[in-house]
Amino acid sequence: MRIISTERSQVLAARISEKMGVPLVETKFSRFPDGEMYLRCGELDDETVIVSSVVDNDMLVQTLLAVDAADQSRITLVVPYLGYSRQDRRFGPGEPISARAVARALSTGIERAFVVNIHDPGVLDHFNIPAKNVTIAPAIGGYVGDLRLKNPLILAPDEGAIEFAAGVAAVGGWDCDHLEKTRLSGEEVRIAPKTIDAAGRDVVIVDDIISTGGTLATAACMLREQGATSIHAACVHGVLTSGAYTRLRAAGVSSVVSSDTYENASSFISAANAIVTAIREDAHP
Ligand code: R5P
Repeated sequence: MRIISTERSQVLAARISEKMGVPLVETKFSRFPDGEMYLRCGELDDETVIVSSVVDNDMLVQTLLAVDAADQSRITLVVPYLGYSRQDRRFGPGEPISARAVARALSTGIERAFVVNIHDPGVLDHFNIPAKNVTIAPAIGGYVGDLRLKNPLILAPDEGAIEFAAGVAAVGGWDCDHLEKTRLSGEEVRIAPKTIDAAGRDVVIVDDIISTGGTLATAACMLREQGATSIHAACVHGVLTSGAYTRLRAAGVSSVVSSDTYENASSFISAANAIVTAIREDAHP
């Protein structure tokens, strides 16, 4: 078995390689003069694990090229971050179900796929091969423990993320709740934990994705007003677009961390353990 990584998943791929005791294959990436992408993998074996977060269009193409380059072997595709997965339905006429389009394209030539904390697990049904979702809630809980907060309150930004938040909270037996939006008037909304008072608490807001940071920044401002002692943010996929990191820090969020599913300077948490466990536990012939 060998491991190939595309360009934006190199750190995570190296960690997976170390934990599995499986060599990484050196891969060369470049472009043709017209901008088209090129890659060349070193020597492969009869089984290949491709680690490739689809963080942008280039990485989607690199994933397809890597799968084709490894076509002599049995391929497990690990897509820690599956771009386009939030367009998982038609919100208006004439739109594609982008998550389905990407899942179908990535299904060709592989035997099985793994994703990490996908926004909606229903997207897995669009793969034409067995596809599994891996959660790193325990790893995020481990990070929260390292913060050494006294009696932290783990908050999901909405009800949909409560299962994930509960998985994080279970690590330390911490309190867990979700934020609820109440419209007070035409212009005014109140965002507060549904049942637990945030006053005097160290709060950790956890989410699958931080993209623009808008969701968390609004919540952080309101939690401050409600008397939270400190506010931290931890997510799986730190997309952090449009100045999200600064936006959150400016909103009074003391720390912002994410995982290596989307590699950037805030990726202090690793998904490697959870991915390796899932690959090993999968009943793969
Ligand atoms: C939405 O349901 C997701 O779980 C995230 O809360 C959302 O994608 C975050 O986006 P943003 O950071 O742009 O507010």
